[in-house]
Amino acid sequence: MINVLTELAQHVADGLHRTPKALSSMYFYDDAGSRLFQQIMELPEYYPTRTEFSIFQEHGAAIAAALSPRVGEEFALVELGAGDGAKTKLLLRELLRAGTPFTYAPVDISAGAMTGLVEALRHELPTLHVAPVVEDYATALAQLRTRPGNKAVLFLGSNIGNFGPAERLDFLRQLAAPLAPADRLLIGFDLQKDPRRIRAAYDDAQGVTAAFNLNLLTRLNRELGADFNLAHWQHYTDYNPLNGAVRSYLMSTQAQQVRIAALDETFDFAAWEVIHTENSYKFTLPQIAELAAETGLRVVASFTDAATDFADVVLATQEE
Ligand code: AVJ
Repeated sequence: MINVLTELAQHVADGLHRTPKALSSMYFYDDAGSRLFQQIMELPEYYPTRTEFSIFQEHGAAIAAALSPRVGEEFALVELGAGDGAKTKLLLRELLRAGTPFTYAPVDISAGAMTGLVEALRHELPTLHVAPVVEDYATALAQLRTRPGNKAVLFLGSNIGNFGPAERLDFLRQLAAPLAPADRLLIGFDLQKDPRRIRAAYDDAQGVTAAFNLNLLTRLNRELGADFNLAHWQHYTDYNPLNGAVRSYLMSTQAQQVRIAALDETFDFAAWEVIHTENSYKFTLPQIAELAAETGLRVVASFTDAATDFADVVLATQEE
């Protein structure tokens, strides 16, 4: 019998056969997950979004200028992981004001989030040209390689923190490869700070982050016919100040078996065994400079908030 597994099913089969078990945070973002992430961004403990927003409020014009160095020459503004675009709108306004013609190409894995964003832009910035792309990063990177003309790529919100060290280098090298000398990359990095604040941002009092993590199991129940009993799973997260890693887990609170119909397989979980579901790395400014150097990039300009909680870094290729 030929058994064609969906990408999600294949990923879950691989991830749950590993030791320790692991699933990618990419699968958090079904439509319900994207809505939960929007709620996270409003939480008092979750500082990254509002900090990056304040950086754009303060330095929006300078960032816009750094992103489009060829005044008057049309370019494409590609945003990886655009989500609801709330912060990006500040930059879009500045770029429209500056007058250099451009097309905004938001990329997001959630069709629901994209529909919301396109609708909002139609009302709020009616003159903006929008070319939405509902794809994952890998597909978006491939499209970027064949996209002609000047470009600026946005990768905001510390989305880069989801990669482990090796994946991060690989991703940035792939992102750097198709850039011409006048092209720019803007990356938002969450910076290392009081570990208690970082930990609280990923374990909020209202339990929204827990719901966001647990939603992955709801998704597997729905899409793969799994029978995860959410009463026997908990959200658990920790921050390691030695390497800047926040790691989030789904923790099995008792020994249990879970059947996944789409895989025709049953998985065993020990009491307090975890599934690693997310990395959210925190950086230092010297690490960011080193990361640029290692991936063929140079720092053109760097913007932070007054407390240096977050950095938005404009990068370009090393030539020119
Ligand atoms: C969207 C990847 C930037 O890691 O801070 C928030 C996702 N996870 N709370 C992050 C997230 C738990 C977020 N990123």
